[in-house]
Amino acid sequence: MSGSTNLITLENIVRIYQMGDEPLYALKHLTLSIDQGEYVAIMGTSGSGKSTLMNIVGCLDRPTSGNYVLNGRDVLSLDDDELAGLRNTTIGFVFQQFNLLSSMSAMENVMLPLTYAGVKREQRLLRAEHVLNQVGLGGRMHHRPNQLSGGQQQRVSIARALANSPRLLLADEPTGALDSHTAQEIMALFNELVDKGITVVLVTHDQDTANHARRIVRMRDGEIISDEPT
Ligand SMILES: Nc1ncnc2c1ncn2[C@@H]1O[C@H](COP(=O)(O)OP(=O)(O)OP(=O)(O)O)[C@@H](O)[C@H]1O
Ligand SMILES: [Mg+2]
Repeated sequence: MSGSTNLITLENIVRIYQMGDEPLYALKHLTLSIDQGEYVAIMGTSGSGKSTLMNIVGCLDRPTSGNYVLNGRDVLSLDDDELAGLRNTTIGFVFQQFNLLSSMSAMENVMLPLTYAGVKREQRLLRAEHVLNQVGLGGRMHHRPNQLSGGQQQRVSIARALANSPRLLLADEPTGALDSHTAQEIMALFNELVDKGITVVLVTHDQDTANHARRIVRMRDGEIISDEPT
């Protein structure tokens, strides 16, 4: 009676980077399954393969071998256009550096992906307003990034990631540039989004931050060494 629906299934994922003659195994036969609506933190020392994993989950990179099913689609059988389509409709990305355009307001930054998606201006405005309200920035829509705190800028970038109504939010060190109090607030915001049905997978180095998630996956040397609820 759990009613959970699988969103991500990675099986036997290998990612080799060829540097000179030595192959570097960034991921070694990694298997991981995540259901719709989970809130997962990925931890592990530097170089353990966290970003490599996130890039593959986010369809930004292809594994050397293995299987990947995302939202029922066999990702590795898709061509680059189909992959981009799946990415744009399914996934929102949040980064450590907020990657906002400094000359644009919060509203305009959030509207940008909708412009690329061909959404009409009136719809874009409504949608941007909705997601900015959702991240608690309803009162700051016309501020530019340099008129916002770090935490507020990260909220704008989360709103931008939500603009296309993704099922999955991927965040590589989203709180890495924030003080610990602000980091907690961002993690609490992710929790609210999870309660609304979005799946959140994030990378963090910080145990306190990870404890806000509901499941912690630990990596070492390209492998998962533990996977437990918080
Ligand atoms: N484009 C690349 N070309 C060659 N090697 C790479 C490339 N990207 C990553 N690597 C190597 O793959 C391994 C895993 O890197 P990855 O970036 O996934 O680690 P990480 O866990 O995200 O580390 P960090 O916590 O420092 O961000 C490392 O040994 C890294 O040097
Ligand atoms: Mg990394």
